[in-house]
Amino acid sequence: MRHTREQLIEDVSSQMPARRWQHTLGVMQSAIELAERYGADPVRAELAAIVHDVAKYWPVQRQAAVIAENGLNTDLLNYDAPMWHSEVGAYVAEHEYGIEDREIIDAIRYHTSGREGMTLLDKIVCLADYIEPGRDFPGVDLIRKKAELSLEEGLIAGFDSTLRVLVERGQTIFPTTVLARNDLIRQLAEREQARQSKPVAENKGG
Ligand SMILES: [Fe+2]
Ligand SMILES: [Fe+2]
Repeated sequence: MRHTREQLIEDVSSQMPARRWQHTLGVMQSAIELAERYGADPVRAELAAIVHDVAKYWPVQRQAAVIAENGLNTDLLNYDAPMWHSEVGAYVAEHEYGIEDREIIDAIRYHTSGREGMTLLDKIVCLADYIEPGRDFPGVDLIRKKAELSLEEGLIAGFDSTLRVLVERGQTIFPTTVLARNDLIRQLAEREQARQSKPVAENKGG
């Protein structure tokens, strides 16, 4: 049941159009780069990236059935179908590919919505999904620029762009994304506060 990296690549790529696989290759590359820059394990980041969109092109009925029949987060079914494939992908990773690493499974599960208390791997996969080299949407350059400052700033810019589009289109907003964004803003503020409360001498040291 355990799949090697090569088996995963073969199986996942067979389940989507070539264009989407190109996107996945881009997410793999960006996830590795972000992991190296921000101190995560690039091997695990890449594995999560390989699998993250495995269910993206499944018929929506099949996605809904996996969620409903396996006691997954059925609240998702109250929101637009593009939100579902992450939950299904996490299920596939665990039960079809035999991935046991909880953080990899969660990074797949939360790559679209984010969540409160995102792990380092959650942040990397979610941000890589926004900024991979093939992405071209209004605002992507700002997200790429912020991603160079910190994972949190990159993700806030990413969620901002998603929320803006949803508001403009009059679509529903999955509340977990709002919670994720609030949490990231607080993390940034706390880091800034910690930085400012350091004694001046320490800042100047060296
Ligand atoms: Fe996705
Ligand atoms: Fe994706």
